[in-house]
Amino acid sequence: MGGHSSHGRMERYDSDAVLIGAMGDAHGGRFLRLEGLQRQLEGLDLLLLAGDITDSSNIDAFGTVLKAIRKRSSVPIVAIFGNDEYEQDRDSFRETYDITFLDDERADINIGEHTVRIVGTTGMLDRPTWWQRNNVPGIYEKYRKRVEVVADLLDREGCDVLILLSHYATTYLTLHGERERAFPEMGSRAMEAVLLEKRPDISIHAHAHNGSKYAVVSRKRRSPDDEGGPAVLVWNVSLPLNKGVTRFEISVGEVNDVRVLH
Ligand SMILES: [Fe+2]
Repeated sequence: MGGHSSHGRMERYDSDAVLIGAMGDAHGGRFLRLEGLQRQLEGLDLLLLAGDITDSSNIDAFGTVLKAIRKRSSVPIVAIFGNDEYEQDRDSFRETYDITFLDDERADINIGEHTVRIVGTTGMLDRPTWWQRNNVPGIYEKYRKRVEVVADLLDREGCDVLILLSHYATTYLTLHGERERAFPEMGSRAMEAVLLEKRPDISIHAHAHNGSKYAVVSRKRRSPDDEGGPAVLVWNVSLPLNKGVTRFEISVGEVNDVRVLH
């Protein structure tokens, strides 16, 4: 390991690649470890916040987490809202903090020569939670429409890297570790179908504190000759699970290459 520092495993493989960090479920700082944060943020081109950065929609506690990041890095930040950033407060979050929030929207970020498109959404649940079923009128319809909106936004035309950023899981595969009965209230298989159709380079989510870190979603092979079609990488960046920021190095080419630096 000549020449490698103790941080060697976090060094980049491709200097032309974009380096994107992601984390979710800081819950007002409860799950944000300050130790090592500086190093995890180092050299990032972009930081994605995957929701539940605060608890119970507490706007100040969201700021506590942002401050911890800003003390160590001036990286551009794109965030989506989790279930702990309540819908009625989302305008206040936008007004209070000078970062890019995406709520069923997308943003194109230029990094060097490359255009990175982030499609951001809270995401959807196959079965709304008990609270949502009882308090959010038309929630089933709302989720159904959201899948269509996200599918429309997930378009490769005009960008080099395409990322879906959501709070809820976009497959059940990254939920393993959680109670199986709860899967439909933590994520969506309908989104999985969107992933296979639109094939973003990666789908990043949080919310599943006890889930699995990553999964590969692919279409089932229908016969031995059927190649099954391309696979899509899904990564759960929940802080309680990862203990820190997950760092993705994405090389742009004929086929983009996603590596995770540990
Ligand atoms: Fe959550």
